[in-house]
Amino acid sequence: MTETADHPDAYPPSAEFAAAANVDAGIYERAAQDREAFWAEQADHLHWHERWNQVLDWTDAPVAKWFVGGRLNIAYNCVDRHVLEGRGDKVALHWEGEPGDSRTITYSDLLAEVSRAANYLTELGLTAGDRVAIYMPMIPETIVAMLACARLGLPHSLVFAGFSPTALRQRIDDAEARLVITVDGQWRRGNPAPLKEAVDEALLAKGDVPSSVEHVLVVRRVGTEVEWTEGRDLWWHETVAQADPVHEAQAFDAEHPLFILYTSGTTGKPKGILHTSGGYLTQTSYTHRVVFDHKPETDVYWCTADVGWVTGHSYIVYGPLANGATQVLYEGTPNFPDEHRHWQIIEKYGVTIYYTAPTLVRTFMKWGRQIPDAHDLSTIRVLGSVGEPINPEAWRWYRDVIGSGTAPIVDTWWQTETGAIMISPLPGITATKPGAAMTPVPGVTAAVVDEEGKTVRRGETEANGYLVLDQPWPSMLRGIWGDMERYRATYWDRFREQGWYFAGDGAKLDVNGDLWVLGRVDDVMNISGHRISTAEVESALVGHSGVAEAAVVGASDETTGQGIVAFVILTADATDTGSAMVDELKAEVARAISPIARPREIHVVPELPKTRSGKIMRRLLRDVAEGRELGDTSTLVDPQVFEAIRAGRSD
Ligand code: PRX
Repeated sequence: MTETADHPDAYPPSAEFAAAANVDAGIYERAAQDREAFWAEQADHLHWHERWNQVLDWTDAPVAKWFVGGRLNIAYNCVDRHVLEGRGDKVALHWEGEPGDSRTITYSDLLAEVSRAANYLTELGLTAGDRVAIYMPMIPETIVAMLACARLGLPHSLVFAGFSPTALRQRIDDAEARLVITVDGQWRRGNPAPLKEAVDEALLAKGDVPSSVEHVLVVRRVGTEVEWTEGRDLWWHETVAQADPVHEAQAFDAEHPLFILYTSGTTGKPKGILHTSGGYLTQTSYTHRVVFDHKPETDVYWCTADVGWVTGHSYIVYGPLANGATQVLYEGTPNFPDEHRHWQIIEKYGVTIYYTAPTLVRTFMKWGRQIPDAHDLSTIRVLGSVGEPINPEAWRWYRDVIGSGTAPIVDTWWQTETGAIMISPLPGITATKPGAAMTPVPGVTAAVVDEEGKTVRRGETEANGYLVLDQPWPSMLRGIWGDMERYRATYWDRFREQGWYFAGDGAKLDVNGDLWVLGRVDDVMNISGHRISTAEVESALVGHSGVAEAAVVGASDETTGQGIVAFVILTADATDTGSAMVDELKAEVARAISPIARPREIHVVPELPKTRSGKIMRRLLRDVAEGRELGDTSTLVDPQVFEAIRAGRSD
């Protein structure tokens, strides 16, 4: 620590912050001395119907069992116990709707809502182990639905409400969901956008094959007309809202599946990341407590992520609610009706902890500091960043402008697969550096290694290495739904001998041994903090009859971190080869996957650079997309191809 504090660009915590912090520097030492005892201590913050008899069973590696023999109910931990312990009147959610409507939901309210939903889902015949797809925007019912599933042991699969019907269907099929919970529509910059319609389209029979879905439960949010399939479709207000508000939670095994969440891998097929109960809730609640220095009595916490992504699962729903947090939930975009929206919300509720993504910080920078400066943001005491590396310039701006020059920033590295924060400063302990995730949180270990698995040497000029996690952690994924082979191959084969988890990220250690995450080293792009695979976009492009071949790369982008750049070869019968075709292809990708996957640029080219074995050389295409000198082209079949591609680009 002292070493880092001497760094010329380090920001140590103030003495005042350190004195009041939830944990002191000794926590690292304590965790290192006896990891399992340390995690048991964290698990003891939860309510266990039955205590475990073994902290970790790793004999079936790489599938871990944590808190073996323990039994708990996740929803009971997130809701009931706060009410039973006398905190029923505490606000759980300050919900802010996009059009300006708002709702205040206490823990008692939440308990009644979750119990109603649990009673109704039981009435529908759902039993522990059945899967439920949730395709909803940022409204309280989404959280109620998730918690009701958790309460009944029904693994949920959230599908981000920006995903297309095709993407939704793919996820429903893979998990064989029996129920979909959705809304009539969602607010998008003042206009209602249909969502139920997308569910209807997703559930259309494919040939003779109907979907696995028996019912669609619909929350009325925008009040527009929707098509109705009698017998299948059900209104939430006619069913759940009428159900009994009392429900007794049953305990489930610590390893009972809690949710499946799909994320992009290096192939076109999304991976259903499986998380279970006890270890997941232990690590999400622990990290929420120590990384954000969360104090339930006084803090007003706001995580701006969407509940459809892992950040929303772990740091809107499970971690904060297990800790009895009072939090803000906002339905809309940051610039509706204007760019003041977030700062008004912070002022209105007195937000003290604000957790967002670097891409949004850079957007705020672009809009100008006069916007946040027009508001009183003095309540903010901790700032968080997640989803991609944060560039030092954005980091400093975030601290100066949003954090009044004093709020510590926690740059939190983790993944859908890790379930919870793994590498991050602790705000009362660490002297932070702009752009560095710094050190694994107490209880977690990581290493930066070379191709052979040897630890890379410290120092700015050392070669970059791969980030690996060398010991199991409580909230780790337990597999890929329905494809355990892919689980092993994707994460554990790369460093099989050592038994390490390969994160897919590049990283380096600086002279002080502090860790900097550098971004993905595989074919996964990071667009505004969203993970999208090059293969998925390529397959959407070749799905268009005018495209013969496509290659996609992520090129640096000032605001979004990376932007999608596609190179396509058109088929001989493509009638249009100009800008109309490019527009059509962009729209096709947005339709097939989601508007977030819409390419920034599409270049029509006569050839793609390939190795003799036929592999597309993305590295070189990235050079072209970023306007750099080309790297080594000696393995190319036809080095001339770049002249043609460059000519294509300048069209
Ligand atoms: O590349 C890393 C980047 O986001 C990836 C994980 O994406 P996802 O599973 O969608 O989860 C995002 C939210 C946890 C990682 O492999 N990433 C995430 N956080 C950081 C980061 N890169 C650098 N710094 C971070 N703090």
